[in-house]
Amino acid sequence: MKRAMLFFALAALSAGTRADRLPMPADAPPAFKAECGSCHLAFPPALLAADDWRQIMGRLDKHYGDNAALDEATRRQLEDFLAKNAGTGRRVARPAILAGELPRLTFTDRFRKKHDEVPASTWQDQRVGSPAHCAACHTQAEQGSYRERELRVPGMAGKRHDHD
Ligand code: HEC
Ligand code: HEC
Repeated sequence: MKRAMLFFALAALSAGTRADRLPMPADAPPAFKAECGSCHLAFPPALLAADDWRQIMGRLDKHYGDNAALDEATRRQLEDFLAKNAGTGRRVARPAILAGELPRLTFTDRFRKKHDEVPASTWQDQRVGSPAHCAACHTQAEQGSYRERELRVPGMAGKRHDHD
C-alpha cells in the first residue's frame, strides 16, 4: 500500500500534476499577465474548464461588476490560450450557475474541497476580502506555487495539516 502510494506520488510529480503547483503555461502570451493579471492574479488556466473560460471571455464588458473589455485580436488570443490550457473532467466540475452569472474557479467542487477548512470569518477578513484573492494566503501564488509551507492564512497562523 505504502509502495503504491509512493509510486502514484512520483507518477503525479513527473507528469507535472501536483496539486500544489500551477505554473504559468509556457505558451502564455504576454497579454495574459498584462491584461488578466492587472486587477487580480492571472489565474491558472487549469482551474476552469474550456467552456467556462469561453463564457468569461465572451462577456469581458460585464466582468464580475467590472469592465475588462479588450480589442478583439487580444481577446481571441487569450480565449484560445485559456481554452487550450483549461482543466478537464472532475478537476474543474462545478455546480450549475444562474443564467447571466459567470463561472468562478472559486466555485468549483475541487476549490471548495481544498478550502473547506478555511472558516467563513477568514474569507471575510479584510486582509483577504475574497476567495479570489489567492495571494492573501498563498504567498507564492504569483509564481504558481501553492505549497502548504508557503501559506500565511490571516487568523490561522501556523496551522499545518495533512492533505493529498
Ligand atoms: C478591470 C479589472 C479586471 C480585469 C482587467 C480582469 N478582471 Fe477578472 N475579475 C475582476 C474582478 C473585480 C473580479 C471579481 C473578484 C472577486 O469576486 O473577488 C474578477 C474575477 C475573475 C474571475 C473569477 C474569480 C473567482 O472568484 O473564481 C476570473 C476567472 C477572472 N476574473 C478572469 C479574468 C481574465 C481571464 C481576465 C483577462 C481577460 C481578467 N479577469 C481581467 C476584475 C478584473
Ligand atoms: C483565506 C486563505 C486562502 C485563500 C484566499 C486561497 N487559499 Fe488556497 N488554500 C488555503 C488553505 C488553508 C489550503 C489548504 C492547505 C493545504 O491543505 O495544503 C489551500 C489549498 C489550496 C490548494 C491545494 C494545494 C494542495 O497541496 O493540494 C490550491 C491549488 C489552492 N489552495 C489554490 C488557491 C487559489 C488558486 C486561490 C485563489 C483563487 C486560493 N487558493 C485562495 C488558503 C487559501
